[in-house]
Amino acid sequence: MANPALDPKAVAGRAAADLVPDGAVVGLGTGSTVHFTLLRLAERMRAEGLRILGVPTSVDTERKARELAIPLTTLDDVESIDVTVDGADEIDPRFDMIKGGGGALLREKVVASITRRQIVVVGPNKLVARLGTTFALPIEVVPFARGTVQRAVRRLGADPVQRTRDGVVVRTDNGNEVLDARFPDGIADAVALERAIDAIPGVVECGLFLGLAHVLVVGHPDGRVEVRHKPV
Ligand code: 5RP
Repeated sequence: MANPALDPKAVAGRAAADLVPDGAVVGLGTGSTVHFTLLRLAERMRAEGLRILGVPTSVDTERKARELAIPLTTLDDVESIDVTVDGADEIDPRFDMIKGGGGALLREKVVASITRRQIVVVGPNKLVARLGTTFALPIEVVPFARGTVQRAVRRLGADPVQRTRDGVVVRTDNGNEVLDARFPDGIADAVALERAIDAIPGVVECGLFLGLAHVLVVGHPDGRVEVRHKPV
């Protein structure tokens, strides 16, 4: 078994859990890096008596949190979230991100939008100079509108592909589909692109997370952890 002390995902995920204060309402992101955050939060609950209330961003995270006996709440019952720990598929020097590789972008963005301190956990492979250069941009769409959205996104210069797994169309936790839009030269103007995509009828949400991250925790393969704060 791989040594978790040298797995960038484990290093980042665990370090971020150590930044969560006692008594916090915590947004619980989705993915294989946040998985280690959940394990560490549960460890801290047992060892230190850490008390938190989690808001999961996916069915998968909700199931994992329940298995770890992390107490949960919903957006019906909290107005804001103190701290969220979530992963990213790409993050640039301004802390703008592409997310949604795991298909949880809608719930992740809703939770991020009411979060005071968004902590992003990644390995060094997720750090990019320009968004869209290593990862296609996920766009959650209503199934009825997929073809229309696909054509409109093509006009924006991308090649949007319907997401499938083992030949089966992927549905999100919200019953929608995902288009993965590859931009041949990356994304030059993320703000303008987000606005243009959000204006297409049938788009539920896109995976551009702009201005939402505050703290970046990078795990390195030698076990080092780097905590960076959003540049002002
Ligand atoms: C899910 C996400 C994830 O945060 C992102 O895909 C990173 O996942 P991982 O930590 O497994 O690399 O946006 O929708």
